[in-house]
Amino acid sequence: MSVTMIIAIDGPAASGKSTTAKIIADRLDLLYLDTGAMYRAVALYLSAKGIDSADENALRSALEDIDIYFQQIDGSYHIFLNAVDVSSDIRVPHITKMSSEVACIREVRERMVEMQREIAGGHDVILDGRDIGTVVFPNADYKFYLTASLDSRALRRFKEQHEKGIDCDLSEIRVQLAWRDENDSQRAFAPLKKADDAIEIDTTHLSIDQQVEGILQVITATTGERQ
Ligand code: DC
Repeated sequence: MSVTMIIAIDGPAASGKSTTAKIIADRLDLLYLDTGAMYRAVALYLSAKGIDSADENALRSALEDIDIYFQQIDGSYHIFLNAVDVSSDIRVPHITKMSSEVACIREVRERMVEMQREIAGGHDVILDGRDIGTVVFPNADYKFYLTASLDSRALRRFKEQHEKGIDCDLSEIRVQLAWRDENDSQRAFAPLKKADDAIEIDTTHLSIDQQVEGILQVITATTGERQ
């Protein structure tokens, strides 16, 4: 029987989940699944097609038409929406905001969770998101919940954007992050919350290396042979 390992990383926006998850995926040779990118892809699709997410029929048929897959190209992760690489398009501010809005819709969540389980199926995998340890894989082998103060998350996101040459405003980023925290944690379906059995790591004063090492120590303490 083949046994797979599932690692769930949840937490608020910009808490370092994806950077950490990608490094761990690389170190332990796991499949990496960025579930936030999938909600962003749905938002992009609805926005590009001018579909009103309140129109149930239009939304249902849109969800049937959406195909999402990931590919690693030259070491970086790309997301394809109906065979088009949308990795950059999903990161613009209005799609970021809209992704949090569409993530409140039950039908969208059900379809994404179904896709996430399909993509992860049969693989050793690390997933990051908001509901991985609570809903998508409640029986995950390891669950981590990363947090950080709003100020430090805003500053990280600001520096990240700045390094990419994107013009941005720190206080505006802070406002947007606070809005998403609230929207993601107050929604009715699968809200952002720590699973009871998740290990919480406050990354406010940690470097990425320290975050990664902390998580790897927990994993290798029980599965040393995998290293
Ligand atoms: O991780 P991210 O910032 O790229 O996610 C974008 C939005 O998608 C986030 O604000 C909430 C939603 N999301 C979700 O509801 N559930 C997930 N598992 C991942 C993301």
